[in-house]
Amino acid sequence: MTVGNSELGYTGAAGAPGAAAPSAPAGAAGRVDLERLADTTGRIRAAVETVIEGKPEVVKLAVTVLLAEGHLLVEDVPGVGKTMLAKALAKSIDCTVRRIQFTPDLLPSDITGVSIFDQQRKEFEFKPGAIFANFVVGDEINRASPKTQSALLESMEERQVTVDGTTFHLESPFMVVATQNPIEMEGTYPLPEAQRDRFMARISVGYPAPAAELRMLDTHGVLSPLDVLRPVADAAEVARLIETVRQIHVSDEVRRYAIDLVNASRTSPELRLGASPRATLQLVRAARATAAMDGRDFVLPDDVQHLAVSVLAHRLLPTAETQISRRTTEQVVAGLVSAVPVPGLGGAAHLRR
Ligand SMILES: Nc1ncnc2c1ncn2[C@@H]1O[C@H](COP(=O)(O)OP(=O)(O)OP(=O)(O)O)[C@@H](O)[C@H]1O
Ligand SMILES: [Mg+2]
Repeated sequence: MTVGNSELGYTGAAGAPGAAAPSAPAGAAGRVDLERLADTTGRIRAAVETVIEGKPEVVKLAVTVLLAEGHLLVEDVPGVGKTMLAKALAKSIDCTVRRIQFTPDLLPSDITGVSIFDQQRKEFEFKPGAIFANFVVGDEINRASPKTQSALLESMEERQVTVDGTTFHLESPFMVVATQNPIEMEGTYPLPEAQRDRFMARISVGYPAPAAELRMLDTHGVLSPLDVLRPVADAAEVARLIETVRQIHVSDEVRRYAIDLVNASRTSPELRLGASPRATLQLVRAARATAAMDGRDFVLPDDVQHLAVSVLAHRLLPTAETQISRRTTEQVVAGLVSAVPVPGLGGAAHLRR
């Protein structure tokens, strides 16, 4: 169940370009911070892309969610590399990693931990569950009972676990990457909407293009690239990048644009459940991370637009008519993005700080 990364020989960022850069004054993401962020995320993306062929956008979104302090739901048909993506991202960072294979008999205490009475010391001792790690890979999350799913999802949201009245804080950075297969329904417990809302973004990996699939046959022939992947950053470095992302400026216009988009989902006749305020927060946070990865210290409406489908679609419920007409919530969100007026047509200058 557990994969430890610490033995993988991460040499630290000391030798990496930009590693010795001093941090910028508090309150603003400086140019040096952004260069450092671009450098480290570039290395993480390149490392993951040695394992997942032909999917740079998917890998970029996964790293965006990491920097935006969110959790990721990877949902797709069997065999497209969902588990591989989660494992590769976890392995590219030198931090504590736990993998949980969700099965119907998995108990909530396997996730959170239990207090066990120590006969010799005559006191209870807490045995931490699988959630106590920087990176938690939850494979096939829809195979566990709703009770176990909710144990995971509650701790994801609160970033803490309470067992027998004692609260334990989870590690930081903390990211859950959960995978599920939407086709196979037998013996599964689909995540309810309230639970899906806990995930910052949902991605589907999709089939690789023929050229990428050909490369996959070459690279995955004898040795799995995952086995040779070495960490390219550590938990402290990721925490520093997260701090940089928090300082990215979001102008009033862009904030209002994000709110207009989520409001449009709440009033859309095609939906019976719109996006929550949690969705608005996460949309803006993810947009900050994208802006930072693109080397900007301010968010553009484009960043919000780009992320809208991945961040919003999995939280929405279509009406019966939308379902009958076979329109997906992704298509509905794409429709909202083209319908809601975009601010900042006079150039980006006024979107800066
Ligand atoms: N785009 C890709 N690039 C490289 N390898 C890929 C790609 N897509 C699939 N694979 C390979 O296919 C195999 C299956 O991948 P994986 O186990 O991650 O699938 P999965 O989506 O988790 O499937 P399941 O739903 O059955 O758990 C792995 O060996 C993986 O390397
Ligand atoms: Mg899998």
